[in-house]
Amino acid sequence: MKCGIFLALIGSRACLAVVRDIYAASYAGLVFRLRLDDNKDGSYSLEEVGSSLDCGYNPAWLALEKGTSTLLCANEAYTIANVGSLASFSKESLSILDNVTTDYGPAQAAFFATNRLGLAHYAGGAVSVYDTSDPSNLVELQSFHYFMDKPGPNATLQDKPYPHGIVADPTGKFVVVLDRGADALRTYSVGWDDRLVELGPHFTEPGNGPRHGVFVKGTSKTFFYMLGELTNSLHGFEALYREDGSLGFRQFYNNSAYQTGFGDAAGGAHLLLSTRNDDRSAYAGAPSDTLASYRVDLDTGALALIGLSASGGRWPRSFAVSADGKLVAVADQYSVPGRLVVLARDPETGVIGDQTPLATWTTNVTLPDGQSISHILWDDDDDEPSLAGLREDSLLLRGTPALGRFS
Ligand SMILES: *[C@@H]1O[C@H](CO)[C@@H](O)[C@H](O)[C@H]1NC(C)=O
Ligand SMILES: *[C@@H]1O[C@H](CO)[C@@H](O)[C@H](O)[C@H]1NC(C)=O
Ligand SMILES: *[C@@H]1O[C@H](CO)[C@@H](O)[C@H](O)[C@H]1NC(C)=O
Ligand SMILES: *[C@@H]1O[C@H](CO)[C@@H](O)[C@H](O)[C@H]1NC(C)=O
Repeated sequence: MKCGIFLALIGSRACLAVVRDIYAASYAGLVFRLRLDDNKDGSYSLEEVGSSLDCGYNPAWLALEKGTSTLLCANEAYTIANVGSLASFSKESLSILDNVTTDYGPAQAAFFATNRLGLAHYAGGAVSVYDTSDPSNLVELQSFHYFMDKPGPNATLQDKPYPHGIVADPTGKFVVVLDRGADALRTYSVGWDDRLVELGPHFTEPGNGPRHGVFVKGTSKTFFYMLGELTNSLHGFEALYREDGSLGFRQFYNNSAYQTGFGDAAGGAHLLLSTRNDDRSAYAGAPSDTLASYRVDLDTGALALIGLSASGGRWPRSFAVSADGKLVAVADQYSVPGRLVVLARDPETGVIGDQTPLATWTTNVTLPDGQSISHILWDDDDDEPSLAGLREDSLLLRGTPALGRFS
């Protein structure tokens, strides 16, 4: 809701209270629509206004297409072998519009063009593209399948390709898929009819296990940051837009994802990453996992750690910053009951106030192993979202290494 001065002067109700929605997917089978009310007295309330069981067994990732008011849900279905699906919902009512079988195990999705949703299929070793122009008739346009001749250095976790992350670059002309099994950044250009054209992989060091990545548009260069799951490492690359139409990466930064030395917080953009299962923080008297905030120097891409905040629970698998940069919603996947906290954030410095949540919402529906919320996103902005939902101020890397530390 846009609130001009004119509206504010005539006292439009909409300008007194800001209402924003948060969508949450739970691995326990549910998709929720939550409403955050910014009450006039400065307090917040977070309430469930809808839910659906229709996405299937294990909703993993959500994407919003504002043009058609549609919520897309990828069902990773990892508790059942060899299943995957994509469902579309009216974002208001959460009534289901379509539900299609996909390659196995879609773990992440990203719009890279209008009506073009890319899916990274973790279990299926594939990448697919859906045409969402008619939300009641989702159509698979493309499917790329990957194979490896032999396992990677980590034979258990790299026995085959595991595409885990998918991101569009800031120009909207390229898509990168992070393949944990193959140690590859798979690159594509966006070609005719907004379909993907495979350009080939950029390999990271063997055994790295790329999982999540994000582009940051700097003053003259574009940077790409990436988390290696198997080495618990954070990497910075300059994106190379080559004359032959390919996309390359030049690494300039390589460090642990578990840093502790703080740097200068002034200026720049911010990057947020979560470290799961680290118990480095404290929240409400209990150990908590951590969100690390970095400042990005927009000229050089250099990173400076500026804050370590409690995530509010166990395994912050997903987090999202509001459009104005002032709120961070964090979903702790293994908190019981499943917990979503909304924390205050200073959009200038990136610092998060982690000890007094503005609002908390819990769900007691969990899988037998205790897992619940897998992904969250805000619907708080009337503007067309920029590609891949990147926002100028708050650039995110979601989730990290679950399995121990990098030393
Ligand atoms: C959508 O498909 C998935 C996978 O086949 C299934 O589990 C789920 O029940 C379906 N949803 C509906 C509403 O039929
Ligand atoms: C694979 O990676 C995980 C996570 O870093 C680690 O715990 C495990 O020991 C590794 N296995 C091998 C065979 O390297
Ligand atoms: C990153 O640094 C670690 C620790 O120094 C090293 O083992 C690893 O090979 C480096 N990786 C890259 C891609 O430079
Ligand atoms: C879970 O929460 C719902 C709604 O708050 C409540 O009705 C239900 O009794 C709870 N179930 C358990 C097992 O606590």
